[in-house]
Amino acid sequence: MTEKLLSTDHPIRFEPPADLAAAANVTEAAYARAESDVEGFWAEQAERLTWAEPFTEVLDWSDAPHARWFADGKLNAAYNCVDRHVEAGRGDKVAFHFVGEPGDTRDLTYADLKDEVSRAANALTDLGVGSGDLVAIYLPMIPEAIVAMLACARIGATHTVVFGGFSAEALASRIEDCRAKLVITSDGGYRRGTPSPLKPAVDAALARLGGQSPVEHVLVVRRTGEYVPFDDATDLWWHDVVDSASPEHTPEAFDAEHPLYVMYSSGTTGKPKGILHTTGGYLTGAAYTHHAVFDLEPDTDVYWCTADIGWVTGHSYIVYGPLANGATQVLYEGTPDSPHRGRWWEIVEQYGVTLLYTAPTAIRTFMKWGREIPDGYDLSSLRLLGSVGEPINPEAYLWYRNVVGGDRCPVVDTWWQTETGQMMISPLPGVTAGKPGSAMRPLPGIGADVVDEEGRSVPNGSRGYLVLTKPWPAMLRTLWQDDDRFVETYWTRFADLGYYFAGDGAKKDEDGDIWILGRVDDVMNVSGHRLSTSEIESALVSHPRIAEAAVVGAADETTGQAVFAYVILRAGDGNTGEALIQELRGHVAKEIGAIAKPRQITIVPELPKTRSGKIMRRLLRDVAEGRDVGDTTTLSDPNVMALIAAAEG
Ligand code: WTA
Repeated sequence: MTEKLLSTDHPIRFEPPADLAAAANVTEAAYARAESDVEGFWAEQAERLTWAEPFTEVLDWSDAPHARWFADGKLNAAYNCVDRHVEAGRGDKVAFHFVGEPGDTRDLTYADLKDEVSRAANALTDLGVGSGDLVAIYLPMIPEAIVAMLACARIGATHTVVFGGFSAEALASRIEDCRAKLVITSDGGYRRGTPSPLKPAVDAALARLGGQSPVEHVLVVRRTGEYVPFDDATDLWWHDVVDSASPEHTPEAFDAEHPLYVMYSSGTTGKPKGILHTTGGYLTGAAYTHHAVFDLEPDTDVYWCTADIGWVTGHSYIVYGPLANGATQVLYEGTPDSPHRGRWWEIVEQYGVTLLYTAPTAIRTFMKWGREIPDGYDLSSLRLLGSVGEPINPEAYLWYRNVVGGDRCPVVDTWWQTETGQMMISPLPGVTAGKPGSAMRPLPGIGADVVDEEGRSVPNGSRGYLVLTKPWPAMLRTLWQDDDRFVETYWTRFADLGYYFAGDGAKKDEDGDIWILGRVDDVMNVSGHRLSTSEIESALVSHPRIAEAAVVGAADETTGQAVFAYVILRAGDGNTGEALIQELRGHVAKEIGAIAKPRQITIVPELPKTRSGKIMRRLLRDVAEGRDVGDTTTLSDPNVMALIAAAEG
């Protein structure tokens, strides 16, 4: 069974459910339409938005790779996400069912959201913030985070949301790089049942910047009510300045290319890249893909994206795409295991969630906890499941589809990046027969290919580099304050062909469907054979005893690199100790080939992960190569490395 599932030659396929296919938002015809006139296609999608001044030009690519989309049009992003739904008579519709970790709940309608965003916009204006200013947002997953983002958009201020799990140091470097004038934070948030402070990290960041700090004010939301130090010269309570502001605010129209936000993302150097997204094209790309890939029916669906608003997924698929489409959403503050491991499923049952969008790492965690937990809840409201962030191994896909989706929900594996702003490669749920482990085809209007070193399209059945072959509306426009790095990072590798180099490896199967193999820097070279870390991880996880696996290539004198694996066991009977390790090595050899056999397999209690759930393979590489481990400040649990070192013996 496993062998068959992992084989890209004869993969299982799941046809779209007949009722979904019959009534799908987007059908097969979209591919042909986009193929025949891609700019016309995107212009049609841009018409989903309300423009204060219509655009006459679609794409200006004359200064490639710097794109301008809909450049002579004007619009307001917050108006598109909020006001127009109220004006259309849908003000009473719930925008967010907020669920706080301690159990407090709050429903915000679109009318509530309009009042809140308008108040916040007035308050920011009173603080001297306006078009062209930068605002840093450092908040937990509470409604004010979304209100703050939309208030910035409404007045033309550019936001940069810094994930609440980042340290004071990371916050300081981002504030400094983008010269933020205002920081919006909270006293704290709830994490695993206890209040966890945030404001002290802002204070530490500003202290670190000292006289260099560009910050004039810190606006503080009261969430936990715990004591926080307060500096009357700079700090203001949100409830003092926002709650008393007028709920009347007239949005101003901004150019389509007005900077909407900067999102910092780690690159291959130590300095994070400030990825810039602008307004009209970005909203078009986020709204269209949300409509197409989730098949959103705004009147009946309850959509829940579990990402944090500190990441691009939260920006495109909690804030801008779904709100532009008038969706009703769940917004959950906490972790999946607080106060119990059934929390997510309890929320799905309670709110009748129909569309769920999450990450493979979460799915594998649920697999580790066992199916009895989701089986204890009524999940029959679900009709579609999405995955994002890393390759989803076939076992996790099948578990997700079967245990969470009751074998009736299609799974859409969506490939995209902070840089792309919108989903790029994904099944369309009413069209595509999905294969577990494959992101399938570029979406309508998107050009993607797998190419060799010279940029030649590889034949089906081969692997290579993933490239994007044409500009798309939500593409990043540049890197903040670093245009050279923008051109160098993404556009020089295949400069002659004008391709965007995504930094991922991929393969095309016999049908030409795309399987993402992970970052190219996670590709190993063992005795001249190219191996993907994620492929070996997938093989390990297909063994019944393995819950999670992380694989790294460690330097080796003779083979170039050697495969080192770190695995978490599931409960169960069978071999243990050295016998189990030999069994696992044999299993990998069977699934992929002897060349992929890990040199060393270490059984560990946990893997080092960032708070967003990405495995920090760099740290495992340090361990495998016998070095002191590097910077662990972005780990969700800094003690993990000590446990792994102990397991290595
Ligand atoms: C990986 C997250 C395989 C990929 C939206 C990409 C994926 C990086 C998938 C971007 C997927 C994202 N299948 N790999 N469905 N989605 N990735 O910027 O390596 O946090 O380059 O954006 O995540 O991560 P980022």
